[in-house]
Amino acid sequence: MGFLSDRLARIKPSPTIAMTTRAAELRAQGQDIIGLSAGEPDFDTPSTIRDAAKAAIDAGHTRYTAVDGTPSLKRAICEKFSRENGLDYKPSEISVGTGGKQILFNALLATLNEGDEVIIPAPYWVSYPDMVILAGGTPVIVECGIEDGFRLTAEALEAAITPRTKWLILNSPSNPSGAAYDHDQIKALTDVLLRHPQVWVLADDIYEHLVFDGFEFATPAQVEPKLKDRVLTMNGVSKAYAMTGWRIGYGAAPEALIKAMAMLQSQSTSNPSSIGQYAAEAALNGPQDYIAESRAVFQRRRDLVVAGLNDCPGIDCPTPQGAFYVYPSIRGLIGKTSAAGTAIADDEAFANALLEETGVAVVFGAAFGLSPHFRISYATSDAQLTEAVARIRRFCEGCN
Ligand SMILES: Cc1ncc(COP(=O)(O)O)c(C=O)c1O
Repeated sequence: MGFLSDRLARIKPSPTIAMTTRAAELRAQGQDIIGLSAGEPDFDTPSTIRDAAKAAIDAGHTRYTAVDGTPSLKRAICEKFSRENGLDYKPSEISVGTGGKQILFNALLATLNEGDEVIIPAPYWVSYPDMVILAGGTPVIVECGIEDGFRLTAEALEAAITPRTKWLILNSPSNPSGAAYDHDQIKALTDVLLRHPQVWVLADDIYEHLVFDGFEFATPAQVEPKLKDRVLTMNGVSKAYAMTGWRIGYGAAPEALIKAMAMLQSQSTSNPSSIGQYAAEAALNGPQDYIAESRAVFQRRRDLVVAGLNDCPGIDCPTPQGAFYVYPSIRGLIGKTSAAGTAIADDEAFANALLEETGVAVVFGAAFGLSPHFRISYATSDAQLTEAVARIRRFCEGCN
């Protein structure tokens, strides 16, 4: 009998780690590597937020707080939901955790029994299936291909629901595809869910503010008020305010679920960092100009990357509505051989060859449950992106 638990054997190490490790090795050998795999904004946290954190330290806000968030941060979150989403929540319906990640984890652990099913549209954020498995549930993956704009359709949702379905995880805008659901597309899904009262929705809205071309963000609890008592709306400050390292995320849900999540948190991590909470409060209550500024930068970069990739033979890159990722298809390259002689059998072979032969690090689509694709994070400088796209084009032109 091994020392490590059986539970651990059921999950896999993050598929992106091998790629990041190899990129670091090549960089250490002096190679010029462009990393396009990071899932975080490349900006610094705005100075008003940093100042609020420093002031919180000086004011002595350095002790334990209430387990799932200070009352004042919870009030700021309620105001955010009211102001930005037209959602009316009480502080007792709010949970603050160490990143949105902990909110998701707590919710799944607090609700799943062995054999309960969780519908996860693919391509998905890498952590969803493993979180479900760790919590004892069964991920039900529904592929949402490029032809559907990487979005779950009402028909596909209906077909995936069984009496054991407990959650649907809906991430809009999506990591890794950047696809976002508009009001009507969400309504089509919530109409299905109204017919299946056993199913709850976990809405991962972490990329809410990164939407382009005037796209109007919508979220299930707002689109279908009749469903609000079985929705957990998850959000956070990581992506909206360039605060990934501060580790503050939050969720809004019916009080009974929020209480259960707080109980779990009280026996694991207790409160998220007190200083992070004060910084998050400043982010939500303070000036919001940063959001529009970063959105404009990301939209420009998205356009640069999409245009450049669509110039590469064998690549088809749809234009995403949001986040800071593109998820191009490489169907046109499968079966070919790179200039250096690597067979492009699948998207993993493509990503490895791209790294070894051109020094561009991307993440292969199989990691996100939908092939043959790859993900680029364009949260890096225009100069790096221009150079990366030029290298990818040369690579594709060399394939035959
Ligand atoms: C889709 C998605 N959800 C949730 C998270 C978690 O963000 P955090 O834990 O930083 O709030 C991430 C981070 O990469 C993400 O991409």
